[in-house]
Amino acid sequence: MDTVIAYDRALDALRGRLPADPEAFFILGSGLGSLVEELSSTVRVPFEEVPGLPSAGVAGHRGEFVFGTLEGRPLLLQSGRYHLYEGHPPDIAAAPARIAAALGVRCLIVTNAAGGVRRTVPPGSLVLLEDHLNLMGRTPLAGSVLAGEERFPDMSRPYDPGLAQSFLSAAQRIGIALHRGTYAAVLGPNYETPAEIRMLERIGADLVGMSTVPEVLAARSRGLPVAAISTVTNWAAGVGSDPLDHAEVLEVGRRVSLGLRRLVRAVVPELP
Ligand code: HPA
Repeated sequence: MDTVIAYDRALDALRGRLPADPEAFFILGSGLGSLVEELSSTVRVPFEEVPGLPSAGVAGHRGEFVFGTLEGRPLLLQSGRYHLYEGHPPDIAAAPARIAAALGVRCLIVTNAAGGVRRTVPPGSLVLLEDHLNLMGRTPLAGSVLAGEERFPDMSRPYDPGLAQSFLSAAQRIGIALHRGTYAAVLGPNYETPAEIRMLERIGADLVGMSTVPEVLAARSRGLPVAAISTVTNWAAGVGSDPLDHAEVLEVGRRVSLGLRRLVRAVVPELP
């Protein structure tokens, strides 16, 4: 599917609103939008004010760029995202990451809510992604090659070892448990069946979620270093005994986000 966004117009519109060039780009997942409260001197740009971007609208997702400073560093945050399960094409899901990369950010930090597949990552855990399985059946990289992107990007190190080390040492310093794991990205919007979760566990997934991979693929095709943190909001289907419920996913996400906020504050001074 060819891209539908005029990136130069989107970029001009956003750049015109930002007081400085952001150094890092954060994508905030379900229930994690409160990270915005850590920033000072914020400037908010709703997605629909950027040419080519539709408004984003799932409960718990606001749909805006937020510029601000944290620990003296200028950052750009994406609060709310475009999910493929809403019917958005993958290049819309990846568009904010591509725009941020073109703005010159030096790294992408993605957060998401995920179900715990492996019994070692119970609800409430924070998990640093080491790898992923793209089971969405889609990629933002299909179609014409965008300027500055690789046709065949290497994915042997999808998540940057240096950024990972910064997160792990920051977590240790402030006494937060940070697990490591592999994220399976599925299309959704239904949660999985127990049989699907057993399959995901056998093929190497520790976590399952419905986001993140489109943005990571776009960033990697531009050579942008990526780190990703999942908050485990529930046991995946069949691992625990409770039925899955989106409201509960959001609620646990909000609770775990307190630890994530501390972690982000601790890691920001170490970002490239
Ligand atoms: N499955 C898929 N996506 C999710 C889950 C889950 O169990 N929890 C949060 N996002």
